[in-house]
Amino acid sequence: MTHASSLKQRDILVTSALPYANGPIHLGHLLEYIQTDIWVRYQKLRGHNCHYVCADDAHGTAIMLRAEREGISSEELIARINQEHQEDFSGFHIRFDNYYTTHSEENRTFSSYIYKQLQENGHIATRKITQAFDPEKNMFLADRFIKGTCPKCKTEDQYGDNCEACGATYTPAELINPRSAVSGATPIEKESEHYFFRLPEFSDFLKAWTRSGTLQPQVANKLAEWLDAGLQEWDISRDAPYFGFEIPDAPGKYFYVWLDAPIGYLASFKNLCDREGIDFHHFWKPDSTAEVYHFIGKDIINFHALFWPSMLHSAGYRTPSAIYAHGFVTVNGKKMSKSRGTFIMARTYLDHLNPEYLRYYFAAKLTGGVDDMDLNLEDFAFRVNSDLVGKVVNIASRSAGFITKRFDGQLSHVTENELMKTFVAAGDEIAELYETREFGRAMRRIMELADTANQYVNDEQPWVIAKQEGQDDKLQAICTNALNMFHLLMTYLAPVLPKTAEASEAFLNASLDWNNRATRLENHSIQKFSPLMSRVEMPQIDQMLEASRDEMPAAVGDKPVETHADPIADEIEFSDFAKVDLRVAEIVKAEHVEGADKLLRLTLNIGEGERNVFAGIKSAYTPEQLQGRLTVMVANLKPRKMKFGLSEGMVLAAGPGGKDIFILSPDSGATPGMRIM
Ligand code: MSP
Ligand code: ZN
Repeated sequence: MTHASSLKQRDILVTSALPYANGPIHLGHLLEYIQTDIWVRYQKLRGHNCHYVCADDAHGTAIMLRAEREGISSEELIARINQEHQEDFSGFHIRFDNYYTTHSEENRTFSSYIYKQLQENGHIATRKITQAFDPEKNMFLADRFIKGTCPKCKTEDQYGDNCEACGATYTPAELINPRSAVSGATPIEKESEHYFFRLPEFSDFLKAWTRSGTLQPQVANKLAEWLDAGLQEWDISRDAPYFGFEIPDAPGKYFYVWLDAPIGYLASFKNLCDREGIDFHHFWKPDSTAEVYHFIGKDIINFHALFWPSMLHSAGYRTPSAIYAHGFVTVNGKKMSKSRGTFIMARTYLDHLNPEYLRYYFAAKLTGGVDDMDLNLEDFAFRVNSDLVGKVVNIASRSAGFITKRFDGQLSHVTENELMKTFVAAGDEIAELYETREFGRAMRRIMELADTANQYVNDEQPWVIAKQEGQDDKLQAICTNALNMFHLLMTYLAPVLPKTAEASEAFLNASLDWNNRATRLENHSIQKFSPLMSRVEMPQIDQMLEASRDEMPAAVGDKPVETHADPIADEIEFSDFAKVDLRVAEIVKAEHVEGADKLLRLTLNIGEGERNVFAGIKSAYTPEQLQGRLTVMVANLKPRKMKFGLSEGMVLAAGPGGKDIFILSPDSGATPGMRIM
């Protein structure tokens, strides 16, 4: 029986979020593209008519400024980044049917058209707003392009919307000594007319749409909260200078990058349709029987589940069949970090490791939900080695040699019919798990089958049979059984491991055809086996981390959180460290500070006069415990004005905090003023 005939062919359009064209692809991004690619490959293997499109998200201030810094045009910059992105993606075997850019004629046309529809339907409002403006650069400044001193804790050089040191949130107007991050000028306030999408008018539509099975339950619940809280009008315009599309009949006004970004899905697909003769309208007309899915990260749900369906609905297109959000990648339990070397670029990974390792590891940990995912590098090595190398590939390597050496590459007949039936039947469960994006459960089921196959080989001991006289038929049958099991395992793993799947097809001289998987390899000749995958070695991982510490791009990004949020500072040169003047200091006096919960005021003697320093160590020491002891201080720190007075240096402390903060050097005969190192 062939399964193909019983399946109805589906028309499916799939997208991944469009990565910003202002920086390279990193392992966090890759979770999404790998997840989507696995799903798409699965659909294609089942024989569905599935198209996978993506593009660079090429517009916005960050890209314009970066091009300026590099002394090239925005167009040149996005062309170069597009090339790099495509190379990174193909390095990970991510196979788009079209990879385009939002800076395209198709996208300009669709964006203008949709905007005009919204306007005709009365969903666009205009009004004046006041915003920070850089008088030197003659441009309006979004919050993240304004820096200054935190109004709460007085830490300098903080972004316009929140403080990294104390976590306070505020408006740029509240910053002390605000500066434009672009020119350094002091921003002024300026008025300008903006265009708004009247989202509140879509509340009822969205309440129905978000509850219609289009969203994961966690996401639908989150949106219900937002919808209950009431929607705001959405500012869709930006003033020149801006890299983007000018708004029709509004000279000097541009579409905000997030307006034309999702429209980029339509544009990329249209570009593919024109090239390959696909019927665009079949996919996008309101009552379409085709399916449309957007894979995205959880940080951009509002754009995809509120703005986007409303825009499509108003402009007369169908809405997505579903939106599939995933969580965020952490590395070794922490946010990806430059200084730890865990902010790993796609390219750096590819320089050191096989892309299929990561595809498998992500698959093994993915669910259909939005939970974050930790890439633990030791676990990564362990899983890949034990599952792929130790279990799956092992089955082939244990059996293939006998077939080649003793039977001239010929398989005989499958004799383990029950086992084979189990393997074939498991394909239906695994299919369902792929379909519902429960890749982790799919991988576990496949590894159970691999365990079964290895157990079979262990029980039959072909290496013992091989030494016995007159047992050739038995030996050949054992190996035939094992290789047929391997054939099915690789069929099930093909969406995750496309290259190993290809190599297996060459080795087995047979295709991996999911729908015809009950067809056995019998009286069939195979090729000589060569190792399909090698082990991950820890030194490769260490080298990757090492390399990744050296190569962090500078980015004034559309999402600064990703590139500057690491609480541990960037690496410094030794010459920077050598500038720090570390001295042994005697604590002459220690006293409470009126109104401060954490601080003690210390008077320090460093041999050449006294220093006044505020130290946040009250939770660990009483003043009495400190007086007369020695500590280490940074003696050449620029004095800082704090709420309670001037602090003229800093004492060094170690420990997790609370009662466990240790500042005192052992009383080892050191004398005040002595230089350390
Ligand atoms: N340009 C927008 C998307 C526009 S879609 C019409 C954007 N770009 S992005 O480059 O910042 O992110 C692209 C995708 O990668 C997003 O879905 C985002 O959630 C995802 N990820 C970026 N960093 C990530 C992790 N650390 N972990 C998992 N996914 C992450 O947003
Ligand atoms: Zn602060």
